[in-house]
Amino acid sequence: MPELHQALSHIRQFTDLNPSVGLILGSGLSMLADLVHDPVSLETSTIPNYPPSTVEGHVGRLVFGSISGVSVVFVQGRLHVYEGHSVSNATFPVRLLSALGVRRLIVTNAAGGIHPDFKPGTLMWITDHINWTNMNPLIGSRKGSVARAGAGAGAAAQNESGNNYYDSEWTNRARAIGNKLGISTSSGTYLWTRGPSYETKAEIQAFKLIGADAVGMSTVPEVVQARACGMKVLGLSTITNLAAGLGDNELNHEEVLDVGRQVRSDLERLILALIAD
Ligand code: HPA
Repeated sequence: MPELHQALSHIRQFTDLNPSVGLILGSGLSMLADLVHDPVSLETSTIPNYPPSTVEGHVGRLVFGSISGVSVVFVQGRLHVYEGHSVSNATFPVRLLSALGVRRLIVTNAAGGIHPDFKPGTLMWITDHINWTNMNPLIGSRKGSVARAGAGAGAAAQNESGNNYYDSEWTNRARAIGNKLGISTSSGTYLWTRGPSYETKAEIQAFKLIGADAVGMSTVPEVVQARACGMKVLGLSTITNLAAGLGDNELNHEEVLDVGRQVRSDLERLILALIAD
């Protein structure tokens, strides 16, 4: 994988840190990178082969450093398929994190709430997902084909991840940490739609029927890729709005960014404790 090697050797000119935990920051959550101690921050636009990000509220940056003595890398500005990236390009950062040594990945996102108990500001641990796009970063990859053939390391990742993309032990610990901090959290199934348009009311009703608790335009391809790379994954959605037709408002990106800012302190406390755990 020459693209990864080039990116890696560029990064190695600035840091020799081998982060064990990676964190991908969703819409309106990029400020969480302020938690990193002694940060070394790299613009992704300077990293060879790193696909360019285009969304408002998303800076493209990798922030290396430590939290409670644990070496970490935060990804500010995830890449979405709706920006025009192929699913393979959208998951480039995950392969890069894997090449850097990341073994545990926390993925965060902003999502529309479908479950009737979810209000803007609800924090939801992702326990499973529905891939509404049918796109998959493993298509055509060696890991994908090995997994389909039912042999080798790829198969192990595929078999295990088919039942359990989101590490249940880690999620249970995360829930307990939330309780200890007095931060109430929920759990549920995240549905990935490609976007960029928000959903119709009829689509949301259909998603509800098939078991979705929250809907968003990211995360799933990264998680599929991360599992294929052998990482443990923890997923956290911030419900920023009621999904289409479930509230009074028209959906807009500003609302998504605002709620992200409002839950900032709870998220910061959670993330700090999760990484220190
Ligand atoms: N739909 C899709 N993506 C989203 C939403 C939504 O309602 N809110 C935040 N991201």
